[in-house]
Amino acid sequence: MKIVVTGKIPQAGLEVLKTAGFQPDAWSQDSAMSRSDLLSKVKGADILVTLLTEKVDAELLDAAGPNLKAVCNVAVGYNNIDVAACKSRKVLVTNTPGVLTEATADIAIALILMTTRRLAEGERVIRSQTPWQWGMHYMLGAGVTKRVLGVVGMGAIGIATARRAKVCGMTVVYHSRSEIDPKVAAELAATRVTFDELLSQSDVVSIHCPSNESTRHLFSKPQFEKMKPTAFLVNTARGPIVDEQALVEALENNQIAGAGLDVFEFEPKVNPGLLHRDNVVMLPHLGSATVETRDAMAMLAANNAVAIANNREPLTPVG
Ligand code: GLV
Repeated sequence: MKIVVTGKIPQAGLEVLKTAGFQPDAWSQDSAMSRSDLLSKVKGADILVTLLTEKVDAELLDAAGPNLKAVCNVAVGYNNIDVAACKSRKVLVTNTPGVLTEATADIAIALILMTTRRLAEGERVIRSQTPWQWGMHYMLGAGVTKRVLGVVGMGAIGIATARRAKVCGMTVVYHSRSEIDPKVAAELAATRVTFDELLSQSDVVSIHCPSNESTRHLFSKPQFEKMKPTAFLVNTARGPIVDEQALVEALENNQIAGAGLDVFEFEPKVNPGLLHRDNVVMLPHLGSATVETRDAMAMLAANNAVAIANNREPLTPVG
């Protein structure tokens, strides 16, 4: 059984594979493999363990060849994988839901506070040794207490973000394909609204939906026009959900007050129109970046691979 791990994953994940009796062929460098290296490395693989930096498309699946049984992504998002191409070749796909919920919600709430309270801007004042003095009118932000958080995509990460926001005194509205568990809705006092209602009511909009064809550019010019000019947009999900050029224009035209971004449409490239803006806070995709979380993600992906290799049901299949 040839298990190819196409990116460097934590040792804990490799141990799961080794303990189960496999000798994974694992990439061990920090930087991602070049496409040509990747295409040759996957040749003859039975199972691929992939990172979100690897595009798993028809070309890659064909390069792997007919033995390929599964692609086990070390991420909850799987927009790097052409699931239809996998399906048509009877290749299973798995992801890592659950284990990164809290870490990602932490980053969402951090971005909410950073944008609404101008924290990165304030830190830049100190670091650049710009003269400053406490003042009644100095660097005032919007704050979050009694403000409305609109959660787009009320899955596990959306709920975990809403829970944190509620503790900060925010009121939660959400837009999601389905109604959430009534007990959770009651605990969060969260109201389900239409997407347009969410856009017009929210002081902060936080994105937590999956990235796919139907959510691509879910946020573009018309949506920014519907948001309050005082509202902030926070994205810890995936870059392509936001039309980044339209976001730049919305900021330029003061259609919204600012943005907090952990993900980018053409990651790792960032639209230059965002770079100089004090009302935009940007992080280099740190949502799941804690030691424990990355260990748990690698172990879950590896356990999926082991289950499939042993003809058992995977723990967390996609779809
Ligand atoms: C991280 O971005 C993930 O989708 O797991």
